[in-house]
Amino acid sequence: MFSIENEIAKLMSSSAVFGIRMLSKRAKETTPFRAMAVLERAQKMKDVVHLEVGEPDFEPPAEVIDSAIESMLNGNSGYTTSRGKIGLREAVSDYYQRTYGLDIGVDRIVITPGTSAALTMVCLALLETGDETVLTDPYYACYPNFIRQTGSVVKTIPLDISKGFAPDINLFEESVGKNTKMMLLNSPSNPTGSVLKGSEMGELVEIANRNETTIVSDEVYHGIYYDTKTHSVLEHTDDAFVVDGFSKRFAMTGWRLGWIVCPPNCIEVINRLTQNLVICATNFVQDAGIAALEMSDELVPKMRDVYRKRRDVLVEGVEKLGVGMGYTPEGAYYLLIDVSELGDAFDISNRLLDEVGVATTPGPDFGTSVENCLRLSYATGMEDLKEAINRIGTFIEDQ
Ligand SMILES: Cc1ncc(COP(=O)(O)O)c(C=O)c1O
Repeated sequence: MFSIENEIAKLMSSSAVFGIRMLSKRAKETTPFRAMAVLERAQKMKDVVHLEVGEPDFEPPAEVIDSAIESMLNGNSGYTTSRGKIGLREAVSDYYQRTYGLDIGVDRIVITPGTSAALTMVCLALLETGDETVLTDPYYACYPNFIRQTGSVVKTIPLDISKGFAPDINLFEESVGKNTKMMLLNSPSNPTGSVLKGSEMGELVEIANRNETTIVSDEVYHGIYYDTKTHSVLEHTDDAFVVDGFSKRFAMTGWRLGWIVCPPNCIEVINRLTQNLVICATNFVQDAGIAALEMSDELVPKMRDVYRKRRDVLVEGVEKLGVGMGYTPEGAYYLLIDVSELGDAFDISNRLLDEVGVATTPGPDFGTSVENCLRLSYATGMEDLKEAINRIGTFIEDQ
């Protein structure tokens, strides 16, 4: 059976292999991001329906692409300040005002090359060796690895499948304590699609305050919600970090652009880390980011409607096939299915790819609570989704 501990033990025992022994324990303990590994394998194959990666099939709008080209032609190809271009920081600030009615000054915003870089910076700013970080299981596959790089310890709160993976505030109450340095939240969640209500966010802030813990809220799927509107932790406190980016709701995955909103007194530390570790986000891409944010009110609702239709078709399809888990995601663009009746999740994921050409991500990537599951991404076109449902159906019939 898969477990992170077994994976780590396997990597550690490979120290006999030439070269491996010189690597750091931290590096050896870093587990692979399987969605990317499946993608690599699937890309070498023909006639594959891709449900493995969370990569929107949309192109960014022409205005966004034009802004990048124009900026590049205007010579904007050098370094920018580490905080990012003031125009983009102002556009991020306007976005908070429009979307949540919040006044977030540009002096709290740092631009980064993607949400992943933002998470790296915030983890390094907050965590010491041995500190504890609390997060829910299932979680975004890379979270434990961000945390491990700092020597901090991951403590997970298993979510209840029968409640549609809704985050249970009482479980946070029980798990967060004086040793907890960081609470890592992700709403809408990858891989569950659950969305925290505004009141729940408020309760989590209270738990953090009582335990003198810092909330880091990954809001990269904000805007992609279907029923419950997305709420920022910043509606409840200034003393939290928000990491966010353009990959998901602006379909700009490869552009590598994101941001951090810092508590008022932390910006200099984050800025120093940014100066040293990444210098800055790509100059002309930052101008494209301004164009994207200016279009967000028009663009995001359209994407949301497309994803909602796909979600409904996929949920209905998998329920009919008997692998549905009886829940409907409220946000993001992922659905977990239960393959325990068919076999081991890794094996089924591999066989779905090899036998019927459907690429999926094995649940164990996202934690122990979903080790019998596969994650399907519906950031892929409707025709492909229907084809995937048919193919999974054929696979199940043949068992
Ligand atoms: C929850 C979550 N956070 C962060 C990221 C990374 O986003 P970015 O492309 O902005 O680095 C992802 C990517 O899938 C994600 O799902």
